[in-house]
Amino acid sequence: MSAIGVLGAGTWGMALARMLTNCGHDVTVWSAIPEEIESLSSTRKQKNLPDMVIPIETKFTTSVEDVCRDKDILLFAVPSVFVRSTIRTAVPYILDGQIIVDVAKGIEPDTLYTMTQIIRDELDKVGKNCSLVALSGPTHAEEVAKDIPTTIVSACEDMEVARKVQDIFMNSCLRVYTNPDVQGVELCGAIKNVIALAAGIASGLGYGDNTKAALMTRGMAEMTRLGKAMGCYEQTFSGLAGMGDLIVTATSEHSRNNRCGYLIGQGVKPADAVKQVGMVVEGINALPATLQLAEKYKVSMPITEAVNGIVNEGNEPRKVVVDLMNRDKRSEIGTTINYEHALLQNRRNTGMKRVITYGTYDLLHYGHINLLRRAKALGDYLIVVLSSDEFNWNEKHKKTYFTYEQRKQLLESIRYVDLVIPEENWQQKRSDMHEYHIDTFVMGDDWKGKFDFLKEEGVEVVYLPRTPEISSSQMKKDLHDADGVDGESKVTHDDLDTDPQ
Ligand SMILES: NC(=O)c1ccc[n+]([C@@H]2O[C@H](COP(=O)([O-])OP(=O)(O)OC[C@H]3O[C@@H](n4cnc5c(N)ncnc54)[C@H](O)[C@@H]3O)[C@@H](O)[C@H]2O)c1
Repeated sequence: MSAIGVLGAGTWGMALARMLTNCGHDVTVWSAIPEEIESLSSTRKQKNLPDMVIPIETKFTTSVEDVCRDKDILLFAVPSVFVRSTIRTAVPYILDGQIIVDVAKGIEPDTLYTMTQIIRDELDKVGKNCSLVALSGPTHAEEVAKDIPTTIVSACEDMEVARKVQDIFMNSCLRVYTNPDVQGVELCGAIKNVIALAAGIASGLGYGDNTKAALMTRGMAEMTRLGKAMGCYEQTFSGLAGMGDLIVTATSEHSRNNRCGYLIGQGVKPADAVKQVGMVVEGINALPATLQLAEKYKVSMPITEAVNGIVNEGNEPRKVVVDLMNRDKRSEIGTTINYEHALLQNRRNTGMKRVITYGTYDLLHYGHINLLRRAKALGDYLIVVLSSDEFNWNEKHKKTYFTYEQRKQLLESIRYVDLVIPEENWQQKRSDMHEYHIDTFVMGDDWKGKFDFLKEEGVEVVYLPRTPEISSSQMKKDLHDADGVDGESKVTHDDLDTDPQ
């Protein structure tokens, strides 16, 4: 059993408080509004969840000190606009080492901080150190309140903490996945609300499923573009916190963003639409920061701009849709894939030879580059399959200095590396040989014999000797020793330059 303090007694805070109490945890709820606490503790009802009964074991307090004291987890469940004021109120009573889980979804204008970044910012100001987790996914409070099967993502850079939160929140109605990409998960949570507003506006205008599908798909494309530019994982965007939450928010009757958009599409003024919804409409709050991020990272976000035009600049929704439809022609497929496709076509005529190699390529060094140079010399086109961060952590049990995106960017800057793709699991090698039309598979000779089975796929298998006296394990060890830190890698591997770990 864990002791959990819930800060915020709105719809989501109370649905989670009930669930956690029913799972046997010791739950105390605090709200900034004393009358709310009075009403919740006496009626055992939350006004927006009329069918939900709050268990008698759920405790309530109007003291922020009480809600923080002796708690294993502090659950921040206030709307995004109150996250900073709430952490400021709570910070004197928070202890080093407590785990703070945030469920609010938003981005702060001007600072462009996500919710856990705001909390970290306030903790840093007083020199406190807590583990921060973003808990986000396709989760309507109305359904969690009825124990309807639901999934969610526990995101934390420290996977041990992510797993601890997974253990505490997981039950037969809530399945929790972990993800180390906190920023990606939080961006998804904030921006999908903007896209849901767009979907609602389209419905309000009387448009149909085609329009909604278009907005969701192209909306996800622009969210992903921004996330990638910011160094987040692409996979996060196609996962539960991304595509999952977008589907739920853009299609559900419970979604306030969708409902607010619908009213706007019907001609209600945005401010009045928010009032009619009666609860926080996070998509509207997220608009300014999303646009600022798009500008900062030079990413085109036409749907977000269109929604902003309607909500904040008084643009006429029907005209905005016409403008979106009449934008310049585009290809749905990125230029890299077009190039790849053309090369594959060309390969049949020119006899081009394609070479592939696998690795982590953290702390890129001469040994790695020397291997890549020799690999490329075995053919015409070199593909590097680069271990994703999740694969490194979950399967190889090691943490890299640089993220997947950073390692990828470095590899792509090497003249003779033609394509970098992710390695997600141990088993993908056989299918990669076919999908990428590989002629030659190359690894360092520390792997000698281990991949001979790929010859069955009609591939030449080559093991190259290491570059003498270069080892990234040694480099990492030296770095750790210099920092006075224990090695983070859980795996000790006798590193050779050709096992590019
Ligand atoms: N409702 C859901 O299904 C759901 C699901 C996942 C995430 N979320 C996210 O959780 C957050 C909260 O959503 P909600 O649905 O509970 O919103 P809500 O509108 O129900 O929350 C209102 C609550 O905010 C608190 N509050 C009001 N004024 C405050 C103040 N000045 N300072 C501190 N707290 C104050 C009060 O407890 C109030 O009950 C949002 O960011 C939302 O995106 C909601």
